[in-house]
Amino acid sequence: MKIACGITGASGALYAVRLIEFLTRDENEVYVVISKWAKEIIKLEMNKEWEEITSGFKGKIYNFEDDDLFSPLSSGSFGVEKTVIMPCSMKTLSAIAHGFSQNLIERMADVSIKENKMLILCPREMPFSPIHLENMLKLSKIGVKIAPPIPAFYHHPENIEDITDFVVGKILDILKIEHNLFRRWHGNPAL
Ligand SMILES: Cc1cc2nc3c(=O)[nH]c(=O)nc-3n(C[C@H](O)[C@H](O)[C@H](O)COP(=O)(O)O)c2cc1C
Repeated sequence: MKIACGITGASGALYAVRLIEFLTRDENEVYVVISKWAKEIIKLEMNKEWEEITSGFKGKIYNFEDDDLFSPLSSGSFGVEKTVIMPCSMKTLSAIAHGFSQNLIERMADVSIKENKMLILCPREMPFSPIHLENMLKLSKIGVKIAPPIPAFYHHPENIEDITDFVVGKILDILKIEHNLFRRWHGNPAL
């Protein structure tokens, strides 16, 4: 399956790195585009350059620059089946909600919507303004999955990896990809 992952300049690039690590374990072809600001935030949050992180990826992974509108990802004819933008900044959310595709990540999302494919956005901001919420509602009404990276605590996470895996696992659930990244809720064992 061809899966496209966009990483934008919102906090939480770690989620995307974990998602990509997981997706490339299978036979998926994973197409990754990272924005200029996402690269900066990764450096800040993970103390690593993006190039160092990608060098550790294994599997069928293809990297494209966000200003490379000549990329195959710009065209619906390339046949990407599922697109995830994680994390998704409010700026990219707004561009997608208004069909304003100025870079490759925005164009990938636009293509996914016009081709009626699965598009998952993980918008990250706090608090959300009415403008952010309106943009999310508009996209949700046309079938875009709005999946903010909001962790849960009922599975007793012990560290950042557990919290990250819960969020990434929820995205894999939407993608219909099997995983064991968190323990599922089967009712209260105390009852
Ligand atoms: C340290 C840092 C953290 C940021 N966190 C967020 C965030 O969580 N959500 C958001 O919408 N924008 C955030 N921004 C602002 C975006 O990076 C900015 O709007 C940028 O233009 C997004 O561009 P992109 O979507 O093309 O990556 C942050 C910026 C910095 C420098």
